[in-house]
Amino acid sequence: MSSPRPIIIVTGANSGIGFGICERLLSDLSHTLPPDAKPQFKSLSPGTAAQDVAPTESYDGATLILACRSEKKALEAKQRLLQGLDRRIAAGRRRADYDGHADVFRANLKIGFHQVDMSDAHSVFQFCEEIARTYPYVSHLVCNAGCAFWTGVDKLSAVRSILNRGLIWSITLPPFKLQHTGKMSVDGLGCTWQSNIFGHYIMYRHLKPLFTEYAARYSRPARLIWQSSLEGQPCWYDHDDWQLVKTDHSYEGTKFQIDLIASKLNERSLLPGGEGHVVRHFLVHPGIAHSNMTNGMVYAFFDTLKLILFYIARWFGSPNHTITPYGAAISATHIALASLLAIPSSLLAFAHRKNTDDPPRSLWDDSLSTLSLYADCGMESAAEARDREQHGQYVPLKFSSQTDSHGEGYVGVMPVLQWAKHAEESEFLVEKCEGLYQTFVKLEAKDGKGKVNGHANGHANSHTNGHANGTSRHS
Ligand SMILES: NC(=O)c1ccc[n+]([C@@H]2O[C@H](COP(=O)([O-])OP(=O)(O)OC[C@H]3O[C@@H](n4cnc5c(N)ncnc54)[C@H](OP(=O)(O)O)[C@@H]3O)[C@@H](O)[C@H]2O)c1
Repeated sequence: MSSPRPIIIVTGANSGIGFGICERLLSDLSHTLPPDAKPQFKSLSPGTAAQDVAPTESYDGATLILACRSEKKALEAKQRLLQGLDRRIAAGRRRADYDGHADVFRANLKIGFHQVDMSDAHSVFQFCEEIARTYPYVSHLVCNAGCAFWTGVDKLSAVRSILNRGLIWSITLPPFKLQHTGKMSVDGLGCTWQSNIFGHYIMYRHLKPLFTEYAARYSRPARLIWQSSLEGQPCWYDHDDWQLVKTDHSYEGTKFQIDLIASKLNERSLLPGGEGHVVRHFLVHPGIAHSNMTNGMVYAFFDTLKLILFYIARWFGSPNHTITPYGAAISATHIALASLLAIPSSLLAFAHRKNTDDPPRSLWDDSLSTLSLYADCGMESAAEARDREQHGQYVPLKFSSQTDSHGEGYVGVMPVLQWAKHAEESEFLVEKCEGLYQTFVKLEAKDGKGKVNGHANGHANSHTNGHANGTSRHS
């Protein structure tokens, strides 16, 4: 029997990893049993092998919504997605065991485009209202769109980094990228912060009735998938600059805040009376992929050199250099399609299925090589995660797109760095987002449609400055 038809929103779907996620979802869903839905993990506790029997579902149709700021780019992406899918289906038809599923799926596939600028609250509200008018429910929201205002590379620091930390580390967590400081949005908020975080928070809050409808119809929660990065590190967090307007690492700062916000929302959703039956929050990262993200930072020649270095890193064993957007999409597509029973919530109690050691290494053991990239902070986080799990406390997980040296992708898991130290900050950030969301809801109701910039630079600006500067720590 077919499963409920998913209605999936992907932000920033027109290029890079967002496009890779769409392409991979379509390819997956057109299979009778989507490959990325297959369980990747196994329980280490005897008698709790629910994930071993977790069903892999089959879909006879879907709606994919491309949430992009440029109509032209989105329509081109749609055409490329359909052409790619049609090629895959045509190749599948030639196989002797072809069962016709892909043709049924293709006939019931809709790809929609809805314009949204994540850095403009009014645009996000309009987007959500358009979605509510057009679709009966939303099953998945993939919060992928992201931007950084790069200005270049600090070449001296790059050379120093390669000499001191080695090539692979330097192209995994590059500390030498230069970016604008203090870029503000039309709403008077930190622009990188609003684009990468707050725009998605508005979507999560404003689309809740559509997640609720999905949960009510099909007795399963909608899934919110937050796109983070390996670069989300505690060292880029500053309580007094939570909108990231003073820092010269606003991009990395947004990624660590995403870790904290998504983990807090997930924790809250699982509490008694939480929203876990309506919507579940998951944190993923794509590894390191070659995309448009660094346009403006390096010229074409260095862009090609960067790609070659990524392949060298992979050949030398870096599991994080997923390189292609399709490969980088695997953590998001697996989390979107796997049975909830097959998604682990513990590092110590699960192992990766591809791990054949006897006794098997746990996910905690597997995460150590990635955590070692972060020196003290990584090892401290590993110890913290182990202790918390042993005491039955919540440990937020981040699902990673990874690869072997031949480019064969799989999903890895790591704990959110220094969660215990930042648990209160995660609460603080969610409260800030919620406070701002409520302010913008009132402004939308008051100013009505069409006052895109008007409302923003007036009331919200004074409010947000009040939030940013006038609120005491942990208030
Ligand atoms: N590439 C990597 O190695 C890497 C590593 C870690 C995390 N990530 C994360 O992966 C996500 C996708 O990045 P990518 O590498 O695929 O980069 P990309 O190719 O530049 O894609 C970014 C997407 O986000 C969209 N976007 C940016 N600002 C927007 C806004 N204000 N409103 C609406 N859409 C907006 C872009 O639209 P336009 O085309 O209109 O600009 C584009 O579709 C980001 O969240 C990024 O932080 C990437």
